[in-house]
Amino acid sequence: MENTQVINTKGLKKVYRLYAEEIAALKGIDLSINKGEFVSIMGPSGAGKTTFLNLVGCLDHITSGDLTVLGKNLNSFDDSRMRDLRLHHLGFVFQEFFLVKELTALENVELPMLFADNKDLSWAKHLIERVGLGKRMNHLPKEMSGGEMQRVAIARALANKPDIVLADEPTGNLDTKNAQSIYDLFRELGKEENLTIIAATHNVKLAYQADRVVHLREGRIEKDEIVKH
Ligand SMILES: Nc1ncnc2c1ncn2[C@@H]1O[C@H](COP(=O)(O)OP(=O)(O)OP(=O)(O)O)[C@@H](O)[C@H]1O
Ligand SMILES: [Mg+2]
Repeated sequence: MENTQVINTKGLKKVYRLYAEEIAALKGIDLSINKGEFVSIMGPSGAGKTTFLNLVGCLDHITSGDLTVLGKNLNSFDDSRMRDLRLHHLGFVFQEFFLVKELTALENVELPMLFADNKDLSWAKHLIERVGLGKRMNHLPKEMSGGEMQRVAIARALANKPDIVLADEPTGNLDTKNAQSIYDLFRELGKEENLTIIAATHNVKLAYQADRVVHLREGRIEKDEIVKH
């Protein structure tokens, strides 16, 4: 499976139309990412990082160019096929965690499994333990720290055994120590589960813990670096 492309873009463009204004957020991205790669996306605010993750994550439609995710060309995908790809093949981690506040840590991880009609809920328990929260399983989000909530969010992202995990500034609300432990988890889980991880971050030290750093600027790739560890 090594060197299998899981993401491929050619001339990928995204234009947002806001009233009469057109904002070109991505102006032609050519990029391929292999299975198992851990890729950081860096770049100044407004460079297009979130836009890129949203397109790859099937959360929004491209404007032009080509986008292939897991061998599927998304250009022709309607909302229901995009939803299916998200539910079964992609995992998401956001800066704001976005846990369901009425549900416990364990229930938050089980939720996407229920949507996917996935009956083996023992996997949710395994994941909660794997991210080090065996003792917080029955806590509500308000009864956990930020670092703990983000670890629940990572467990949730893995609930349906995705191929790709997309993380948008996953450590933006965390202190240095918790931020590092999130990146440690990404590296470890990436290897264990053979995940492709793409994480946008402003943190240079964390970014270079990935295998590769792609720099965006004004909607274009400015630099694409392989990191030597
Ligand atoms: N829904 C939207 N409608 C209109 N314009 C948008 C929308 N989302 C983003 N933009 C614009 O597209 C450009 C890229 O935004 P994007 O959110 O992708 O940047 P970013 O690199 O994630 O920035 P940050 O580091 O601040 O999160 C910006 O100019 C932004 O104002
Ligand atoms: Mg962003």
